[in-house]
Amino acid sequence: MKYGKLIKVSPDLPDAMAIAEATSILGLGGVVAFPTETVYGLGADAYSVDAVRKVFEAKGRPADNPLIVHIAEFDQVGELVKTIPPKATLLIQKFWPGPLTLVLERSSRIPDIVTAGLETLAIRMPKHAVALTLIKTFGRGIVGPSANLSGSPSPTKAEHVQTDLGDRIDMILDAGPTQIGVESTIVDVTVDPPMILRFGGLEQERIEEVIGEVRTTSDNRFLKRSPGTQHRHYAPRAKVVLFEEGNVHRFTNLLQEYQFDGRKLGCIIHSQQLMRFKSYLDCFVVMGSIQSFSQNLYDTFRQFDQRGVDLILVESVSEKGLGAALMDRIKRAAANGSLSTKEVVH
Ligand code: TXA
Ligand code: MG
Repeated sequence: MKYGKLIKVSPDLPDAMAIAEATSILGLGGVVAFPTETVYGLGADAYSVDAVRKVFEAKGRPADNPLIVHIAEFDQVGELVKTIPPKATLLIQKFWPGPLTLVLERSSRIPDIVTAGLETLAIRMPKHAVALTLIKTFGRGIVGPSANLSGSPSPTKAEHVQTDLGDRIDMILDAGPTQIGVESTIVDVTVDPPMILRFGGLEQERIEEVIGEVRTTSDNRFLKRSPGTQHRHYAPRAKVVLFEEGNVHRFTNLLQEYQFDGRKLGCIIHSQQLMRFKSYLDCFVVMGSIQSFSQNLYDTFRQFDQRGVDLILVESVSEKGLGAALMDRIKRAAANGSLSTKEVVH
């Protein structure tokens, strides 16, 4: 068995020796977890079938869920795709490096295992010095799914990677907590108007400022979606229940409904109206902005799980800007959670 090797690096100026070691592991077909501005990724040589297979195995990821190729230089896109539509060029110029993944028509350079046999390929250039230095030094694209066990919340700290995958991968580059905390926005630019397949760190409004109107999968539920969005995702073990922002009445009703029976309750709240409950329950209070909510969401889910919380009441936010991504993840978690094994055992 291999043991994960966690190496601390500066997020702004990573140590050359650490990068050299990580690069040599990638060169040998190994797997290295690395930080990005969204969440930690699980890196492996995108051109090696064996290396990519190890990533699927380590995560326990279904083979029909394709991976994003991460690049560090603009000229690395050319050989991966057939064409770059004009709107894709605009988005690349404006938002790369950054939390935007583009789905393009693929060339045959990347092995089928990466795209799960699809004719398209997802590509992104992360905005993080460690990720960019790693990929530049390695010299070609690396796959980078979120570095969590399939089905659990994406890792926003190296410790999360260690917990999920520490004994299954070769190295973890630890650059501290990630800045955005939810995954990249995925835009399919093979269709016009382009379509958002997954809300994420780059707001729809900012995309539309550059290329005009985009569609979203919620516009038409029969349109294709990102394969991964159909799998169980982003869910803590605890059951998640969303309630309307500032609705004290609903919150207290939920407390009454669930609090008997010795269940452990937690909550994530942010509005003034709810603050009076914060010392009464195990609560995470979001301080300040929606950015801080998104930075802390997955870590908070994991902490509640560690403390054995059975039910998490989450106060909703408006689905504008980053709120769209945040609410998407919380709703998925709410749809997935089960009310602990306790309930089944009783
Ligand atoms: O922020 C992120 O994107 C992070 C960091 C590490 O870069 N990565 C990430 O990768 O979230 P992953 O594998 O956890 O999620 C990738 C999503 C999956 O839902 C997958 O189905 C979708 O991208 N995807 C990959 N290739 C696709 C394609 N060709 N067409 C449509 N969706 C695709
Ligand atoms: Mg993921």
